[in-house]
Amino acid sequence: MRAAQVSKLEGPESVEIVDIPEPEAYPGGVVIDVHAAGVAFPDVLMTRGLYQMKPELPFVVGGEVAGVVREAPADAHVKAGDRVVALTLLGNAMAEVAVAPAQMVFRLPDNVSLEAGAGILFNDLTVHFCLRNRGRLAEGETVLVHGAAGGIGTSTLRMASALGAGRVIAVVSTEAKAEVARANGATDVVLADGWLAAVKELTGGRGVDIVLDPVGGDRFTDSVRSLASAGRLLVVGFTAGEIPTVKVNRLLLKNVEVIGAAWGEWVMTHPGYLAEQWAEVEPLLAAGKIEPPEPVLYPLERAAEAVASLDNRTATGKVVVTLR
Ligand SMILES: NC(=O)c1ccc[n+]([C@@H]2O[C@H](COP(=O)([O-])OP(=O)(O)OC[C@H]3O[C@@H](n4cnc5c(N)ncnc54)[C@H](OP(=O)(O)O)[C@@H]3O)[C@@H](O)[C@H]2O)c1
Repeated sequence: MRAAQVSKLEGPESVEIVDIPEPEAYPGGVVIDVHAAGVAFPDVLMTRGLYQMKPELPFVVGGEVAGVVREAPADAHVKAGDRVVALTLLGNAMAEVAVAPAQMVFRLPDNVSLEAGAGILFNDLTVHFCLRNRGRLAEGETVLVHGAAGGIGTSTLRMASALGAGRVIAVVSTEAKAEVARANGATDVVLADGWLAAVKELTGGRGVDIVLDPVGGDRFTDSVRSLASAGRLLVVGFTAGEIPTVKVNRLLLKNVEVIGAAWGEWVMTHPGYLAEQWAEVEPLLAAGKIEPPEPVLYPLERAAEAVASLDNRTATGKVVVTLR
């Protein structure tokens, strides 16, 4: 089968297309003919050996797929021929055939294409975990998201109002990304340059209830400043590179919280949580209450370019690599 593989840790340009044997089905594993695979920031980090998960070289890139089941265990909830999305967490996704544990495979609603499906699980379930579980989003609250035109960002814009948010403010670095944020459902969009003052003005000085921050770096202290009383700042990632620190007196003085939100860790330590998440998200997708993503598509031959687009900050929305 053809696959996008990394054999040296030199960044996205080391992703190459190779012919390798198909993976063997393992006990409890579902074999999937892959139509499309999602790209996410951890894939960039993994091409440099900088992510917390460090698979042995060489490894196949990517952590999520959409495709059609070729073979499933007799007692699995999916069967041959089903259209599914699946997590391979992490690696082993950008290949013509993938195997995923049955508990990480879900049937895709008919109204969602396989290309869009490949962009759903990783980001949407992270955002669902952030807003529902860690952020305790209440009906009508205001959510602000940094990197709003990125993968996690556009997921937040697509999902927050279906999960109860009254207003969703997007922070982006360019006017072009502002357009992407609006198209994905942002109520308001502000540019990263001068964002705090703009948000204070938009909220009449009150601030926001939740900040979802996949960017980190020098946004962080201002994010604490942007919170309303009892606000929650969700630490999701550090695409800006620098890992910020917080002076806890700021939390005390404003009655606010800074909360870690590591979805993968939660999934690994809470069996059954993924199925609970899908049981809430799938009907919202099927009913059109959450719009599926409209990913930017790259054919497998251009997988290196697809991963590089997240590294060089040119990606908008979800990036997906197509295999069939
Ligand atoms: N905690 C979890 O469970 C979890 C799960 C999934 C992903 N993540 C993390 O979430 C973060 C975002 O992932 P993603 O897939 O959404 O990435 P993405 O699609 O590349 O979006 C990231 C956004 O970050 C902003 N950014 C600011 N400085 C940047 C820089 N120096 N380089 C690249 N982007 C920069 C960009 O927006 P602007 O240009 O508008 O600033 C970009 O759109 C990553 O750190 C990832 O590891 C965490």
